[in-house]
Amino acid sequence: MYRPMWDRFLRACRREPTDTTPVWFMRQAGRYMAEYRALRAKHSMLEICKTPELALEVTLQPLRLGVDAAILFADILLPLEPMGAPFEFAKGEGPVIHQPVRSRADIERLRVFEPREGLGYVLDAIRLIRRELDGKKPLIGFAGAPFTVASYLIEGGKSSSYRLTKELMWRDPDSWKLLMTKVSEVVRTFLRAQVEAGAQAVQLFDSWVGSLAPEDYREHVQPYVAHILQDLEKTGVPVIHFGTDTTSLLELQREAGGTVLGVDWRLPLDVAWQRIGYDRAVQGNLDPLLLCAPKEVAIARAHRVLERAAGRPGHIFNLGHGIIPETPVETVQAVIEAVHAYARPPAPTE
Ligand code: CP3
Repeated sequence: MYRPMWDRFLRACRREPTDTTPVWFMRQAGRYMAEYRALRAKHSMLEICKTPELALEVTLQPLRLGVDAAILFADILLPLEPMGAPFEFAKGEGPVIHQPVRSRADIERLRVFEPREGLGYVLDAIRLIRRELDGKKPLIGFAGAPFTVASYLIEGGKSSSYRLTKELMWRDPDSWKLLMTKVSEVVRTFLRAQVEAGAQAVQLFDSWVGSLAPEDYREHVQPYVAHILQDLEKTGVPVIHFGTDTTSLLELQREAGGTVLGVDWRLPLDVAWQRIGYDRAVQGNLDPLLLCAPKEVAIARAHRVLERAAGRPGHIFNLGHGIIPETPVETVQAVIEAVHAYARPPAPTE
């Protein structure tokens, strides 16, 4: 009898053969799902994150669509509060950090906390989810990467230019170092604690790093990312290194580390994989907006991604960035089915 592999996602991270290509989606739990909106009508985003039973419920919601992994329901900004920089998700505006970090004194005040104390609720949620999912679906934990988290601390919210962040980086490199060292230590220890609590893979989200020139990435960001990724890889769980707009940074990101490299839609997957090297797994890379296109178009383009993976072990199908709230659930489900049904060619031998 044919038994589908429950762990095809974890196997693909290690570039082992799988029965079919694993698929999951960034932001797979969220506003595009009616169940999520119903729960959000009763609880705020932060309430859900801070209540392990609610975080469990939302984490499980997208699994009925057929994805091959669960991602912990949380947010990359949760460490800000225990660091001493409280924030809120303001309606329609996204995150607002009440007192942005702008001076040396602000940076010195930031706390490097013990994850079990500052973010114990996340670790409790992980333990609860693992009890529910054990042997059924793997659980992915995550954190924001130092540049992306620092950009929120400094800008006070989402930015389009990262002007204040870059200004600090260039004007006062010593303070930048102190900030990146503190944020990195928080991220590293938090991810390690997630693995100890039961996360079976972790993803580092460097969502906004693509705003940097390669030389700035190399000098001001890469050492911190490398330190985190290389430390996490010692735990033995797969580590996914993700960014967007990273066409000019892929080689530097690969050098920094990660069992799996995230690829966005701005490069064809085969071109990206060749540049990264076939000794790493890759995750991606459908444009998230394609899930809002006619279903046949979305499926045809998913097939193109799979063709470019060419049957090589080590491809995890995903979007190049998160699902947007306007996405029809039926298209998400149809693409998942199309990925699983795709007949892969034998992998090339080179
Ligand atoms: O399903 C999953 O992927 C797990 C949950 C998850 C959330 N945020 C839930 C969330 C994950 C992995 C994140 C990561 C995250 N958060 C990132 C990195 C990924 C990316 O998209 O680049 C970033 C930059 C954030 C910061 C953040 N959180 C922003 C900018 C916003 C507001 C924007 C928006 O879409 O409203 C959030 C809020 C947030 N995080 C929501 C969800 C489901 C929406 C909250 C709501 O109103 O219900």
